[in-house]
Amino acid sequence: INKVFTELYILGDTVIQNAANSGVGHAVIQIAAAKGIQTINVIRDRPELQQLSDRLTALGATHVITEETLRRPEMKELFKSCPRPKLALNGVGGKSATELLRHLQSGGSMVTYGGMAKQPVTVPVSALIFKDVKIRGFWVTQWKRDNKHDEDTLRNMLDELCILIRAGKLSAPACTEVSLQDFRKALENAMKPYVSTKQVFVM
Ligand SMILES: NC(=O)c1ccc[n+]([C@@H]2O[C@H](COP(=O)([O-])OP(=O)(O)OC[C@H]3O[C@@H](n4cnc5c(N)ncnc54)[C@H](OP(=O)(O)O)[C@@H]3O)[C@@H](O)[C@H]2O)c1
Repeated sequence: INKVFTELYILGDTVIQNAANSGVGHAVIQIAAAKGIQTINVIRDRPELQQLSDRLTALGATHVITEETLRRPEMKELFKSCPRPKLALNGVGGKSATELLRHLQSGGSMVTYGGMAKQPVTVPVSALIFKDVKIRGFWVTQWKRDNKHDEDTLRNMLDELCILIRAGKLSAPACTEVSLQDFRKALENAMKPYVSTKQVFVM
């Protein structure tokens, strides 16, 4: 994410992402904000929606919207104040991914890195023909394998992230520490929606 934002994006560009409350989503918000890139962050509706929206805004999110809003005509209003995104980051799949695609600018890309909804990505034919959108995938493990002989690439990326961390611009997602004996509780919590914290075993 950091490398792509550094090399391809300019101040004021927009990125749209779903699963914005995930660990990945929090990192995207913070890295983008540090580079002056605007983010449109899609989350699931929930009780305490406003609190989550406030938390993501405090992290640096430009806009926080629900999956339902993503489908509504009021999105047109949003694009009066920021350009249509060049990049969509999809960690959900299904309808959510299709809706992200609808808002990309012509020639924009959607990168799928996760499939939390366990539904395939459906691409409207019109998006391919008339907007020439690019559909790609990303797997960090493969990226590391591909770059294992290029130590500079990996090191430079980690160095840049460390600079952001030291500057207080990038923090890890919230964690709940659970002892290993309580693994059932940790698994149950990890399966619940809207929990917003990682379950970390203490050994
Ligand atoms: N490709 C790669 O290299 C790579 C690397 C790391 C992670 N991943 C993948 O990225 C995804 C996110 O990982 P993470 O560790 O950041 O996750 P995480 O912190 O556990 O967060 C999961 C997120 O998914 C959302 N979610 C769950 N079910 C959903 C559904 N049915 N519809 C919409 N949103 C849903 C949750 O939303 P709520 O907040 O509403 O509960 C939560 O924000 C996972 O699929 C993971 O496998 C891929």
